[in-house]
Amino acid sequence: MSEQFHTVDVNLGADGGSHNGKDRSYPIAIGKGLLTDRRLWAEVIGSRGVVLVTDDQVGPLYAERLLSALPALDRLTHITLPAGEQHKSMASVQQILDAALADRHERQSLFVALGGGVVGDMTGFAASIFLRGADFIQIPTTLLAQVDSSVGGKTGVNHPMGKNLIGAFHQPEHVIIDLDTLSTLPDREYAAGLAEVIKYGLIRDAAFFHWLVAQVSALQARDIPTLASAIERSCAIKAAVVMEDEQERGVRAHLNFGHTFGHAIERNEGYGEWLHGEAVAAGMVIAARLSERRGDLESDVVDQLLSFQQQVGLPVTPPAGLTAAGFLDAMASDKKVTAGKIRYILLTELGKACVTEDVSLEDIASVIDA
Ligand SMILES: NC(=O)c1ccc[n+]([C@@H]2O[C@H](COP(=O)([O-])OP(=O)(O)OC[C@H]3O[C@@H](n4cnc5c(N)ncnc54)[C@H](O)[C@@H]3O)[C@@H](O)[C@H]2O)c1
Repeated sequence: MSEQFHTVDVNLGADGGSHNGKDRSYPIAIGKGLLTDRRLWAEVIGSRGVVLVTDDQVGPLYAERLLSALPALDRLTHITLPAGEQHKSMASVQQILDAALADRHERQSLFVALGGGVVGDMTGFAASIFLRGADFIQIPTTLLAQVDSSVGGKTGVNHPMGKNLIGAFHQPEHVIIDLDTLSTLPDREYAAGLAEVIKYGLIRDAAFFHWLVAQVSALQARDIPTLASAIERSCAIKAAVVMEDEQERGVRAHLNFGHTFGHAIERNEGYGEWLHGEAVAAGMVIAARLSERRGDLESDVVDQLLSFQQQVGLPVTPPAGLTAAGFLDAMASDKKVTAGKIRYILLTELGKACVTEDVSLEDIASVIDA
C-alpha cells in the first residue's frame, strides 16, 4: 500500500529554448510505497519507452521493485553503473547514451534516475543531450538527493579539472521520493543529507531550524512522519529559491552556505575521504561562526547547530592541519570564484543569508581556532 504525504510544486513556467515553450513546472511527490504504486507509474510514464539508470548498490535493492510496478512499455532499457563519485564521468554518460541509442529509443522516451545524486546528475545530463533533449524523472534514494540534487535542474558530470564542470540545466518532469528507500541508506550518507536539511533552516527559515533541533532524536531514528515533514520543507525551500533564480544569478547562491569552506575541505582532503555533506557541515560551522563574529548571529544558534551536528554524527571542525591560509588557497581555485574574489555566504540573522567578499584571513583564522 502506498501513502503519499506531501506534494511540493516547482513552478518554473515555459521555456523559450530547446523545449519549445513547454511548461517545465513539476511536482515532487513524497510518500511511502511509491516505488510499487502501479497507478502512479501508469500516470507518470504512460506508454512511453523508459531508459532506467541506477547504480550497482541501489539497483539490487530497488530496481526489481520498481520494474514490477511499471506499466506495459513501448521499450525498456536498464543500465546499472558502478556506484560512486569517481564514476560520475562523461564515460558513464556515454554508456547511457549508447544503450539508449542501441535500443532505438526516441526523443519521447523517458529517462528515469533511480539512485543518489550521482545517478541523478548523470541521467539528467544524458537526457538533456539525448536527441537534443528527452524528458527525465528523478527517483532519489539518498536523503541528500531527495532534499537537494533531485530538485532544481542542475545536471552534469565531473571532469579531471574539477567537480561538476560539464553539465546543463535540465528540469525533471517529476521527482518521486519514496521514504522507504532511506531504510537501507548507510548512517554516514544519511547524516550527510541532514547537513543539507539544517542548512535550509539556517539560510531561509528560523522556525524550521528550531523545529529540526527539537526533532533531532526522531530524525536520528529515521522516524517516517518526521522525515516526511523535514523533506517536504527542505524541498519547498529549495523550490522557492530555484523559482526565484533558476540559473544562479543571485539568490540561488545562498544554497551554497557552508559549501565554499566545504569544497576547500574536500579539495584538501582528496575527494572521497570526507563525504560532501560532512565537509559542508564543518563549513557551515565556520560560516556560522563568521556570522557570529560580525555580530549578526547569536551564539545560542551556533551552539544549537553544533549540538545538532554532533548528535547526528556530523563533524563540527575542519580537518586538523587545514589552516586559514590553506582554506584561502583552496577556495581561490574554486570554480565559483570570479575575478579572484571569493564570495562568502554568511547569515545576517538566523533564516537570512547574504553574499559578501568582506572576510579576511584573520577572520577565518579566528573562527577556526575558536
Ligand atoms: N544537481 C544538484 O543540484 C546537486 C546538488 C547537490 C549535490 N549534487 C551531486 O550529488 C552527488 C552526491 O549525491 P549523493 O550524496 O546522493 O551520493 P551518491 O549518489 O554517490 O550516493 C551515495 C552512496 O549511497 C548509495 N545509495 C544510494 N541510495 C541508497 C539507498 N537507498 N540505500 C543504500 N545505499 C544507497 C549509492 O550507491 C552510493 O554508494 C554529488 O555528485 C554532487 O555533486 C548535485
